[in-house]
Amino acid sequence: MGADVSDPLSILPVRAAEVALNAYAPYSAFRVGAALMSQSGSIYIGCNVENSAFPVGGCAERHAIAAAVAAEGHAMRLSAIAIVALDPSGEPVPCAPCGACRQAIIEFGPGAEVIFRADAQNAAVTVTAEALLPGAFSFK
Ligand code: THU
Repeated sequence: MGADVSDPLSILPVRAAEVALNAYAPYSAFRVGAALMSQSGSIYIGCNVENSAFPVGGCAERHAIAAAVAAEGHAMRLSAIAIVALDPSGEPVPCAPCGACRQAIIEFGPGAEVIFRADAQNAAVTVTAEALLPGAFSFK
């Protein structure tokens, strides 16, 4: 999962794996990190933060998006987001973004590249946000 200097997005899974170590996941023991690149070229990170009142907890992707909006304002748009999950021993495990996070990603970048490991057999895939959630809700 090393970064490739010829591909600026290749750093995102590296940063996502780093921030996953900071996750607060005592209930699921499933630590998730997300790292996104905004269209301005800045990187923002987030991890899952659980709560004893389960629905109060939040996903890594939406926390990274919140950090990006807080830093850049309402015009923030996504170029790409990588998601990495770790098992209790720190080994990367597959983690496709949940449905709510797919909707949140589309809000800020329908064409954004979403990078994640979909299954145990294969390496990371890159898919557009729109392809991950056909028929997403929109007021338009
Ligand atoms: N989780 C995420 O952070 N992102 C996802 O897309 C899927 C699930 C977190 C939420 C919860 O803390 C743990 O993983 C188990 O569901």
